[in-house]
Amino acid sequence: MTSSFDDITDAQEAAKRNLWLHFTRMSSYEDSDVPVIVRGSGAYVFDQHGRRYLDGLSGLFVTQVGHGRQEIAEAGARQACELAYFPLWSYAHPKAIELAARLAELAPGELNRVFFTTSGSEAVESAWKLAKQYFKLTGQPGRYKVISRDIAYHGTSMGALAITGLADIKHPFEPLLPGGVRVPNTNFYRAPEFLAGDEVAFGRWAADEIERAILREGPESVAAVFLEPVQNSGGCFPPPPGYFERVRDICDRYGVLLVSDEVICAFGRLGYYFGSQRYGYQPDIITFAKGITSGYAPLGGMMVSDKLMEPFSSGTATFLHGITFAGHPVSAAVALANLDIFEKEDLLGNVQANEAAFRATLEKLYDLPIVGDVRGAGYFYGIEMVKDKLTRETFTAEESEQLLRGFLSHALFDAGLVCRADDRGDPVVQLAPPLICGPEHFDEIERILRAVLTEAWARI
Ligand SMILES: Cc1ncc(COP(=O)(O)O)c(C=O)c1O
Repeated sequence: MTSSFDDITDAQEAAKRNLWLHFTRMSSYEDSDVPVIVRGSGAYVFDQHGRRYLDGLSGLFVTQVGHGRQEIAEAGARQACELAYFPLWSYAHPKAIELAARLAELAPGELNRVFFTTSGSEAVESAWKLAKQYFKLTGQPGRYKVISRDIAYHGTSMGALAITGLADIKHPFEPLLPGGVRVPNTNFYRAPEFLAGDEVAFGRWAADEIERAILREGPESVAAVFLEPVQNSGGCFPPPPGYFERVRDICDRYGVLLVSDEVICAFGRLGYYFGSQRYGYQPDIITFAKGITSGYAPLGGMMVSDKLMEPFSSGTATFLHGITFAGHPVSAAVALANLDIFEKEDLLGNVQANEAAFRATLEKLYDLPIVGDVRGAGYFYGIEMVKDKLTRETFTAEESEQLLRGFLSHALFDAGLVCRADDRGDPVVQLAPPLICGPEHFDEIERILRAVLTEAWARI
């Protein structure tokens, strides 16, 4: 283990004494070791004991090109030697310019302006601030509300949290920023009974719920709708056919901006540079982070349409917003090297060629009594677990707690698979492997899931 600690035990003690893990019950490590991941190579990571794990979640939906890519590390090092830091406040630097131009080429439609951040939450926060200031500048100062979906995760900073649709992670921080409005998500497996079995009607209904929310709130008060191409939280809900087309129409009808939150879904996760390209809709803003650098350095941002930029292009108008490390030169250089790999290795092509095999391999698990639904797109899948396949009865909160936290999370990791067992909606296991993966990795994922889910069922 490469560290300043003499041995693994010292590092464990310090991890427990000094480090605060995110969204983690720290007490859960009172009697067990904090897992320490020390290195990565390709689709695998290794812990402090040298044990190997298939990174079935790309870290946290991040490591698109896989671990251990020397050319990206070297691009970052070269940049740090040349110009480690300079802000994007009034100045530019070459790598930010090059990256912005490259992203504008890749993005759909007229999304030609890039505002960098360091994270996804900041990207979402920035998009909301931009929407507000844009409407103030263009004579509609009453538009400040944002519509988003139930159980959707859009980040943790106060603004992004107000857009997030997960009640449990919001309560401790109330009162939140006013203006967050919720609509139903597109979980077809849990569609209301009167729509069950008709995906097109379900999509129409879910889109129309956005219109109803706009009318309820008053169109003159609504600034934007924030949607992920495939909603992550709750377990990978793809959009029903026609959904985004209808949402785009509704937004246009009421002068509301459509923000595609692609913090997870951009950069190949769905087989395209941007998730909106896969589903054929044109956002006014795309927020991104994670996969743009494959995690070799932190970077996020938003792509903004020419129309939204226009009022900021003349006179004294200024977007009054900035972040010290946004568009950091090292991160921008790393992002460019990352995108070079996308091109050289045709990673989008790899996802497109293999996604059917990924789905088919996961669908083999349908023969297990606990597997209720396998859903997703590209290299982004959720498996919903149920107590009764026929009735789709889900687990009680207590059973879910026991199943996910008490057993599955540890058992999957112990079996050599990094994935996510999540019960922020109904209980799901989520998978988002690096985009370099192929059938042999899918088989490994299926083998491990089959063994662990079989044991989970036996324990119920
Ligand atoms: C859709 C979406 N938006 C925003 C965020 C927040 O990103 P970050 O954790 O980089 O702040 C996430 C994080 O997972 C996300 O999935």
